[in-house]
Amino acid sequence: MPERTSPKQLAKKDRDRLDALYEQLKKTTHRTIGYPCNQAWDYSELFRFLEFSINNVGDPFEGSNYRMNTHEFECEVLNKFAEYTKADPDDFWGYVTTGGTEGNMYGLYLARELYPQGVVYFSEDTHYSVTKILRLQHTRNIMLKSQDNGEMDYDDLRESIRFNRDSPPIIFANIGTTMKGAVDNIDKIREIMDEFVIREYYIHCDAALSGMILPFLNNPPPWTFADGADSIAISGHKMIGGPLPCGLALARKKYVDRVSRSVEYVGVLDTTITGSRSAFTPLMLWYALRTIGDEGLEKNARHSLALARYAVEQFQKRGVPAWRNVNSVTVVFPHPAKSVMEKWVVAPNRGIGHLIALPHMTEELIDSFIDDYCLARTEEPPEDRKMPSSKDPRRGETSNAGLI
Ligand SMILES: Cc1ncc(COP(=O)(O)O)c(C=O)c1O
Repeated sequence: MPERTSPKQLAKKDRDRLDALYEQLKKTTHRTIGYPCNQAWDYSELFRFLEFSINNVGDPFEGSNYRMNTHEFECEVLNKFAEYTKADPDDFWGYVTTGGTEGNMYGLYLARELYPQGVVYFSEDTHYSVTKILRLQHTRNIMLKSQDNGEMDYDDLRESIRFNRDSPPIIFANIGTTMKGAVDNIDKIREIMDEFVIREYYIHCDAALSGMILPFLNNPPPWTFADGADSIAISGHKMIGGPLPCGLALARKKYVDRVSRSVEYVGVLDTTITGSRSAFTPLMLWYALRTIGDEGLEKNARHSLALARYAVEQFQKRGVPAWRNVNSVTVVFPHPAKSVMEKWVVAPNRGIGHLIALPHMTEELIDSFIDDYCLARTEEPPEDRKMPSSKDPRRGETSNAGLI
C-alpha cells in the first residue's frame, strides 16, 4: 500500500467513542425486527479488497478507463438477476445501485424519458421516497387509494386513467409494500390498459424486498419482465443482506439506449444515475450469490415465510389480530406499546407495527418479541393501538388470493 500522508493515531477519547458505538450496535442488532435487513452473512473473505481505491464508475457492460473496478463481477450478478426476473437476454440491462430508492428513481427516469407527458400512478402505500423522486424529476403523478391489505385500489386506477386518457400511464407497482408486504397485480393493471385501448404505457416494479423471495416460489404473482414489467428495482441489503446498502436497477435495454451518453474523461457510457459507484457492493452480491446459491436462497425464502406464518399463528393464539399478505414475510399487528418500541426496533406507521421475518431469525426470537408485546398490552394503557381501518382487512378484496 502507498504510505499515508501525516499518519496520526486516534486519540483515546475517540477510540472510546468507537468502542461504545460498536457495543451499542452489537446490542441493538438482535432486536431489530421491524426493518428488512437480513443479518446472516459473512463477507470477511472480501475484506482485503477494502485496501484499494476501487470504483465502478459508468456502464458495467461497457468498460471504463478507470480499471480499478469490479465490472466483470457486477455483470455476472446482473446476468443472474436477469434470470430471476425472466428478462429477455437481448433486451436487458442493469447496474448495482446504492439501494432500492436509486433503482426506483432509475425506472421512473427511463419512463419519463420515454413518455415526457406521462402520468405516474402509485398507491398511497408506496415507499415514502417515491414522492420525493417524482418531485425531483418534475413528473406528473397521481396517488391512488389502497385497499386495506395495502394493495392498489384498481377501481381508483381505472377512474383516474379514464380522466387522463390523453397521457401515457406510468404505473409504479409495488411488489411488496413497505408496511404490509402487499403486491400490486400487474395482470389486473394491464387489463385496465386493454380496457381503455391504451398502447403506450410503462410498468415499473418496486420489488425491494420480495424481489429475492418471489423467484424461489412455485406460484409467484406476476412481477417479472416476462409478465410485462419494463423496469424492476430490488434492494441488495434486504433479503441477501450485508453491511453496505445496495440494490439493483434492471430495465429493458432499448429504453436505456435512449438515455446513454458517452463520456471521454472516464471512457464510459454514462447510463447510470450516479457517477462514481461502489465497486465493493457488486463484489458482495457476487460473493453472496456464489456462496449461498439458488438452493440456499430458496431455503432462505422458505424459512422466512414459515417464520412469518408462525408469528401470525402465535399472535392470533394470544388474541392479537395479526395478519400478513400471501407470499409475504411482513407480519402486521396493532401498534405496540411504548415499552416494546423502546426495547425492540419496530417500524410503526398509522396505527400499526410490523415485523419482517428474515433468514437470520428464529422462532425463539419471535416468541420473545410476542411475549413482550402481549405483556405490555395487558400492563400499559392502550394508545395508538388500533388498526388503521375499522374494516377487517381480511374482508378486503385482494387479487393475491386473500390474506393469511
Ligand atoms: C417497498 C420499498 N421500496 C423502496 C424502498 C427503499 O429502499 P432502500 O432503502 O434500499 O433505498 C424500501 C425500503 O424499505 C421499500 O420497502
